[in-house]
Amino acid sequence: MQVFRTVADLRRWSRALRSMSGLAPGNSIGLVPTMGALHAGHASLIRAARAACTHVAVSLFVNPTQFGPNEDYTRYPRSFDADCALAERGGADVLFAPSVEELYPNGPASTFVEVPGLGDRLDGASRPGHFRGVATVVAKLLIAAEPDRAFFGQKDAAQVAVLRRMVADLKLAAEIVVCPIVRDADGLAISSRNVYLNPSERAQALTLSRAVRHVESLVAQGERRAHMLIASAHGVFAAEPEVRIDYIVLVDWSTLEPVETAAPGTLFAVAAYFGSTRLIDNTVLR
Ligand code: PAF
Repeated sequence: MQVFRTVADLRRWSRALRSMSGLAPGNSIGLVPTMGALHAGHASLIRAARAACTHVAVSLFVNPTQFGPNEDYTRYPRSFDADCALAERGGADVLFAPSVEELYPNGPASTFVEVPGLGDRLDGASRPGHFRGVATVVAKLLIAAEPDRAFFGQKDAAQVAVLRRMVADLKLAAEIVVCPIVRDADGLAISSRNVYLNPSERAQALTLSRAVRHVESLVAQGERRAHMLIASAHGVFAAEPEVRIDYIVLVDWSTLEPVETAAPGTLFAVAAYFGSTRLIDNTVLR
C-alpha cells in the first residue's frame, strides 16, 4: 500500500490508472473517504470498494471545517498506524493522508461547497455548517482522486443525501455507493465516537438501535402514520430519562423533508446525546 500526503500524488496515481484504462478496459477506482480511527464499519466500506473496483484508495483526514467551534475536533480519535494496518489488511492500494494545509492551502475558510436546504436539516440543523464542511472536503477528494465510485456508510444517512445531491448538482462522475450500517453484537451502530462513552452511557446508547428496531417492527405490523411512529420511538427513549434526544424524524431520504406517511425508502433517523457524546442511528424502511 502506498501512502500519499499530497493531492498531486493522489491525482498522478489516479490519472496513470485512467490512461491505463484505455489499454485495460474494466479498470475502476474506488475511494473510501474517512476521518481515520478506522473500525469495522470502515473495514466493510473498504471490502465493498475492493469487491467493486480494481483499485482502491482510502482517505484519512480529520476535516476541521465539519466541526463546530465547541465540538470534538481536537480530541477526535487519531490512530494513524492502526489505520494504515487496517486499510492495508482490507486491500487498499493507496492511503491518502494529507495535512490540513495541503487540503486547505488558503486556510479553512476559503472556498466552500454548500448544499442549501438539505445541508440545514437533521444533523445540519443541530450542527450548523457541518454539511458545508463535509460537502467541501468530499468535493475536494472527488476532484483529486476522480474515482468511479465513492463509498459511504448508511449510518450517516443525512450525509449521504447531501453528498448525492452535491454530486448530482456538480455533475461529478463518481457514483455514491451506500453500505449497510455495521453494528456491535448488542445492536449499537459502530462509530468512532463510541470510544467516548463510559459504561453507563454505552448502555444508554442502546436506546438508539432499540428505537430503530421498534419502528421497523411497527411498520412491519402495518403502522404507516409518521406521528404515531415518532411518538412510539419517543416512548422507547422515555425509559432513559438521562438521554437528551436531538431529533427523531421520518423523512424522505433524498430531500430530508418530513413525511406524513411511511413508504418504502422513507428514512427513520434518530440522534441523541449520551453525556456529551452525540450519536446517530437510522433505518431505511422497506
Ligand atoms: O463520514 C465521515 O467520516 C466524514 O464525514 C467524511 C465523509 C470522511 C468527510 O470528512
